[in-house]
Amino acid sequence: MTQISAAQKPVDGSKALYGGKGTRRITVRDITAAKERGEKWPMLTAYDAMTANVFDESGIPVMLVGDSAGNCHLGYETTVPVTLDQMVMMSAAVVRGTSRALIVGDLPFGSYQEGPVQALRSATRLVKEAGVGAVKLEGGERSLAQTELIVQSGIPVMSHLGLTPQSVNTMGYRVQGRGDEDAHRLLRDAKAAQDAGAFAVVLELVPEELAAEVTRSLQIPTVGIGAGAQCDAQVLVWTDMMGLTDGKLPRFVKQYAQLRSVMGDAAKAFAEDVVGGAFPQAEHAFH
Ligand code: KIV
Repeated sequence: MTQISAAQKPVDGSKALYGGKGTRRITVRDITAAKERGEKWPMLTAYDAMTANVFDESGIPVMLVGDSAGNCHLGYETTVPVTLDQMVMMSAAVVRGTSRALIVGDLPFGSYQEGPVQALRSATRLVKEAGVGAVKLEGGERSLAQTELIVQSGIPVMSHLGLTPQSVNTMGYRVQGRGDEDAHRLLRDAKAAQDAGAFAVVLELVPEELAAEVTRSLQIPTVGIGAGAQCDAQVLVWTDMMGLTDGKLPRFVKQYAQLRSVMGDAAKAFAEDVVGGAFPQAEHAFH
């Protein structure tokens, strides 16, 4: 009998991460099972309860409270200034706004670089105070000890490789893993993250061929952003993919809506109604 590969097997609809029938909160064990089934899944960022609630109702199975909130939500130029207190506050809001999605809280710059003990203390705050189901941190081999201790303490870790925005001051924003040496380093980092116990690896701005090789080499899923179509999962920053972000977007972003013009037009219509006396009307008033 011809063997079918995991990637060709039909997904059991009741178990599927997206479109599945389960109503309990998704765990990292469900993520591991999805890789075994060869099932692809979507992840979006979220920074507040209301947006997270919309995505939860739409069936998005994994949400990342990313430190991209720095640029997309808090008005900073980079992710570097974001604090752990801010991440705890936003993560708690996202957890409150959802009932099914696995919520991953980002460890911000300065909250884990000092070493494993600092990393565990920060991860513990995200779990105890915000209620996230997992944390994410940047770096493979350089964050090995941190990943190991957090995982051994019972907190699932998602690793982040390739372009790591917290290192913007040394790395800049450019494709990573080009050339043999850099590609081998990235592959080594991915395996190190897996060996340290990470349950998934984000690959940001990496050549598609390299992301495909990493995806084939790992037992844990890869989550691509600007890393081509071969990753097990894809993540986008929600304000980018909904057309809310101002200015030029990276080439890897696909826009699924134009919220910036929808919201701008609604704000102008309201302003014109107020100025022209068309709002409020009788049905909006109390007597
Ligand atoms: O902070 C973030 O949103 C991220 C994603 C881009 C993966 O790290």
